[in-house]
Amino acid sequence: MSTHKIAVIPGDGIGPEVIDASLGVLEAAGRAFGFTTDLTMIDAGAGRYLRTGELWTAALDEQLRGHDAVLFGAMGDPAVTPGVLERGFILAMRTAFQQAVNLRPVKLYPGVATPIADLTPERCDLVIVRENTEGAYVGRGSTVHAGTPHAVAVQESVNTRQGVERVVDYSFRLAQQRRGKLTLCHKKNILIEAGTLWQDTVDDLAVRYPDVEVDYVHVDAMCFHLPVAPERFDVVVTDNLFGDIITDLGAVIQGGLGVAASANLNLDGSAPSMFEAIHGSAPDIAGKGWANPVGAVLSTAMCLAHLGEREAALAIEAAAVNVLRGLPGLSGPAMGMDTGGVGREIAEQLGQAPAVTGRSVMDDLAASAMAGSAAPRR
Ligand code: NAI
Ligand code: MG
Repeated sequence: MSTHKIAVIPGDGIGPEVIDASLGVLEAAGRAFGFTTDLTMIDAGAGRYLRTGELWTAALDEQLRGHDAVLFGAMGDPAVTPGVLERGFILAMRTAFQQAVNLRPVKLYPGVATPIADLTPERCDLVIVRENTEGAYVGRGSTVHAGTPHAVAVQESVNTRQGVERVVDYSFRLAQQRRGKLTLCHKKNILIEAGTLWQDTVDDLAVRYPDVEVDYVHVDAMCFHLPVAPERFDVVVTDNLFGDIITDLGAVIQGGLGVAASANLNLDGSAPSMFEAIHGSAPDIAGKGWANPVGAVLSTAMCLAHLGEREAALAIEAAAVNVLRGLPGLSGPAMGMDTGGVGREIAEQLGQAPAVTGRSVMDDLAASAMAGSAAPRR
């Protein structure tokens, strides 16, 4: 029986609530599919920061490196200056562990309400590959004459050939596993320097993947194509900031922030990958039991797929989707049960829910791990 050593960081706000629900599902999956988990609960986030001033520390870096994967809830708290935790912890981990790819599936599951009139699941099944360590997120820049009428703020975007190439290469391989189509999303007509580097990289690598059809869409145009014609896309590769924005749009299309999942993948197995719902700490609903845990549960399933537990991952996805479609609403009191109740219902339906139709991102992750294009930490 395999044992997966997983570090769990519940964090702030609704983070601990959705993680709690996810751990119940994880434990049930282990029983049903014959694996065990060795969990390390990590105290990090606003509470710890306010007590000790600690964010991402060398000791935590070392401790987490000894794990196969990291499950992450959310961070952010009204009592902490915006950005301190997000930059000081989440971005620090993504960079320290070289989690180069932020993989975000945009799949409309059958029976799930979407705000886009007459959108069907068959038409909405894509994955967005967001570069996760560079771009505007490196935090380079400076301000002169701060706080005066003459203030000048310069914010830079850093794009390295190596950093871009590794996510583009991953995206080509992913497209090969899927429907064979890769779209670069950028703003190369205006951001000439970065845009040229991205487009050159795609053009150069395309030679190695003649079976993948390549196209290009500006990020503003993506904002109208994605809601009305998602069937245009199979794998979309984009930079860190554009990816942040278009994946929130993707989440809305597939049923809201409570439903959307993500993986932060280290591609070479040199450090653990990290899995998290794409929502934040939602302080407006924290403590009420109103958070939808499905995004966190699906992220947990992605973690298992990455660690080689494909069957368990597919079963969790199927159960989560089945529970989701039965809920009267997708968040808040409209869900008809609380966060923990949704988690327990998913655990109960493991192995009983009908399989999800179409290509599953769980298959994508399991195949990438096997092929070594996103190897798990061992
Ligand atoms: P948010 O995602 O926390 O919330 C946005 C809205 O969606 C809120 O109205 C919230 O109630 C709702 N919502 C979010 N997740 C939900 C769920 N699972 N079920 C039901 N409703 C849900 O984004 P917001 O409000 O911009 O940020 C709150 C804090 O979280 C900030 O400190 C922000 O920096 C941080 N944040 C952290 C992230 C992370 O930990 N990776 C990602 C995004 C934001
Ligand atoms: Mg975001």
